[in-house]
Amino acid sequence: MAKMWAGRTSGVTDSLADELNSSIGVDCRMYKEDITGSMAHAAMLGAQGIITAEEADTLIGGLEGILADLESGKLEIDMSAEDIHMFVEQELTARLGDVGKKLHTARSRNDQVALDMRMYMRTTCDTTVEKLRGLISTLCAKAEEYKSAIMPGYTHLQRAQPITFGHHLMAYAMMLMRDAERFIDCRRRTNRSPIGCCALAGTTYNTDRRFEAARLGFDGICENSLDGVSDRDFCLEYLSAASIMMMHLSRLSEEIVLWSSWEFSFVELDDAYTTGSSIMPQKKNSDMAELIRGKTGRVYGDLMALLTTLKGLPLAYNKDMQEDKESVFDACDTALLCLDVMTPMIATMRARTENMKRAAQKGFINATDLADYLVKKGMPFRTAYKLSGGLVAKCIREGRVLEELSLEEYRAESELFDEDVFEAIDLAVCVEKRISEGGTSVASVEKQIESVKATLSL
Ligand code: ARG
Repeated sequence: MAKMWAGRTSGVTDSLADELNSSIGVDCRMYKEDITGSMAHAAMLGAQGIITAEEADTLIGGLEGILADLESGKLEIDMSAEDIHMFVEQELTARLGDVGKKLHTARSRNDQVALDMRMYMRTTCDTTVEKLRGLISTLCAKAEEYKSAIMPGYTHLQRAQPITFGHHLMAYAMMLMRDAERFIDCRRRTNRSPIGCCALAGTTYNTDRRFEAARLGFDGICENSLDGVSDRDFCLEYLSAASIMMMHLSRLSEEIVLWSSWEFSFVELDDAYTTGSSIMPQKKNSDMAELIRGKTGRVYGDLMALLTTLKGLPLAYNKDMQEDKESVFDACDTALLCLDVMTPMIATMRARTENMKRAAQKGFINATDLADYLVKKGMPFRTAYKLSGGLVAKCIREGRVLEELSLEEYRAESELFDEDVFEAIDLAVCVEKRISEGGTSVASVEKQIESVKATLSL
């Protein structure tokens, strides 16, 4: 089929060139944005007297019909069209005749595609934030449930100090809150209208860009037409925010994988989010967590792909930019699916609090509290640190734990020890005493949950 842009050239292209050039397989998902954008454009052309009011109405009616037929399945997108913009315009002209050919007045596919992308991406930002809210609320609910479940807190993956599982989960809620903020911020910059920038230089028609922008719910317009058609920062921002979010989901996934291993046995995932092995009957694998961890690399790749595509492009539009959609849509689909699976996986995850507690008892994670005990009795911290380290070494040599040493053994090291040392190194007490803001005590974690929930309900 001869191309709509045939004129200067015959419009007859090599079939492999068509394959390379075609983007409809990817951009067809923006049909709704393309059609509503075109409706606003037709309305603006009519309001400005660039076409007659009747012509504008006819165009809008035609576009409405196409949208309705696409949604009802009566009309199928013709995959041999070059892209979604060409498909809609061709269909409109087929339905309306010559009036259809007026739609593209004072417009180019360059500002049209930028418009569609911005509309699509602002909705995607909203969807991402909504899904993040769901996951964050789930983490808050789980944290509430396990706010007094003691587990070892780690540094270097070595048992460090006792914390609660609720505290640990709230750390992820905080990360995801920042992610949500990033998407909200990204939406703000995405929500500026490029339509009316035309091919690159603006237009000689008496258009009203702000009319179109307002009609389509934009907060303002791209103020430089060259920038308006060339800017894909908003895509990069989404990809960056998605990459950081995926990094957070990946760290949480890694912990879920560790926690559900036999060695840890800290959590049990619901069967719905695990798989078995085709050969080893005993297996319950945390594939979904592994996949979320794995998909993170894919989203990073999407970010790198678009950064690389854009880096050498002279102003203004270049066809390279058509490649933006594949990366961005892949990242959106991946990130949203991961959120969709992570949320119910966390909601149905059961903590094995006895195992967590047992692990906490074995790792000398109260050694800091032992040192702090001596400090409170007047010993300088470095001296107390050394003395406590010596007691840990003694326990390791003898296969015992700090709680099992007798008061005599403690007093042999320092006269400062009294009966109350046993309370000071009791794990529940160690946790409960960490009342500093952001700390692990039940009261501190409750405050964290309250604060997150208050922000979520804004
Ligand atoms: N399919 C194209 C894209 O996604 C639309 C813009 C085409 N513009 C052009 N000057 N050929 O980028």
